[in-house]
Amino acid sequence: MIDKLSSIIDEINSTKISGIDELESFRIKYLGKKGVIAQLFNDFKSVPAGQKKEFGQKLNETKQLAQQKYDSLKSSFPSTSRRMEEKDLTLPGDPIPLGSRHPISIARNKIIDIFRQQGFTIAEGPEIEDDWHNFSALNFSVDHPARDMQDTFFIQQDPDILLRTHTSSVQVRYMENQSLPIRAVFPGRVFRNEAISARAHCIFHQVEGLYIHKNVSFVDMKQILFFFAREMFGIDTKIRLRPSYFPFTEPSAEMDISCSICKGKGCNICKYTGWVEIMGCGMVDPNVLSNCGIDPEIYTGYAFGMGIERISMLKYGINDLRLYFDNDKRLLDQFISFH
Ligand code: DAH
Repeated sequence: MIDKLSSIIDEINSTKISGIDELESFRIKYLGKKGVIAQLFNDFKSVPAGQKKEFGQKLNETKQLAQQKYDSLKSSFPSTSRRMEEKDLTLPGDPIPLGSRHPISIARNKIIDIFRQQGFTIAEGPEIEDDWHNFSALNFSVDHPARDMQDTFFIQQDPDILLRTHTSSVQVRYMENQSLPIRAVFPGRVFRNEAISARAHCIFHQVEGLYIHKNVSFVDMKQILFFFAREMFGIDTKIRLRPSYFPFTEPSAEMDISCSICKGKGCNICKYTGWVEIMGCGMVDPNVLSNCGIDPEIYTGYAFGMGIERISMLKYGINDLRLYFDNDKRLLDQFISFH
């Protein structure tokens, strides 16, 4: 046992310590609660009675030696608290990493900015709607398939109260409440009873546009939508309008843009046609104007509606709708520098 102490003393003397971390390891090894010396104090009981005195003295010497070595070296290394005092507290703090906006918000903000530049106001309407604002006022006949339980989420079995299936409902509210002329866009969430897949979701976002004035023509609509397409997807973007049908517009059209991914050459996004559909539009049906208290003999107007997810997918190359709702930081991190 005594020999063991002698070799520990040698070890302590010969330990080389050249930094604060090594000093801390030394302290833990010899002076710590579970260190070598504490262990030897525990072993003291088992030292034969005749050796107890000598062992005890030598053990105390060992402890003192380790303590002295520790104390003398401690003052020669700057401690953490001293280092704190030497810090320049006037330096600016470490930057806190910022999050990003969601690609739907980025696309939404860009869309409404473009229309704002053209004098459009921004307004919102309720997500829980009644049949009148979502369907009837918009000229949907009673048996129109879009009213079917398959597409619409009704609230508490009441066929009159539902989650809006499109932002066109806000058109109706706006026409009912605002004075003319009207030039506004309505962004918001919409809901449809669809199975979730890469191409469909039960919650998505739309921006609706409406312009009502005297002598508004289809050409006015085409001009503003062409401006929008070029601002959103680049100056070389082309548009085309295909005849279509919506109950609330007459005539109605769907607008395609030249594919922003392949620049019209043909790819799997545009299904090798060079064109992708981005919105529905048309001249507001006279029935809708009168339903909202506007005289269709005096006023005309156009309306359009687009899906924000679709615009964002085309603009940022996102190929699965579910990514928008997954909350995967790896997707969001790619949008840190977008505003
Ligand atoms: N509400 C239509 C939809 O959800 C989109 C739409 C089409 C809106 C034509 C319009 C329009 O204002 O004129 O599919």
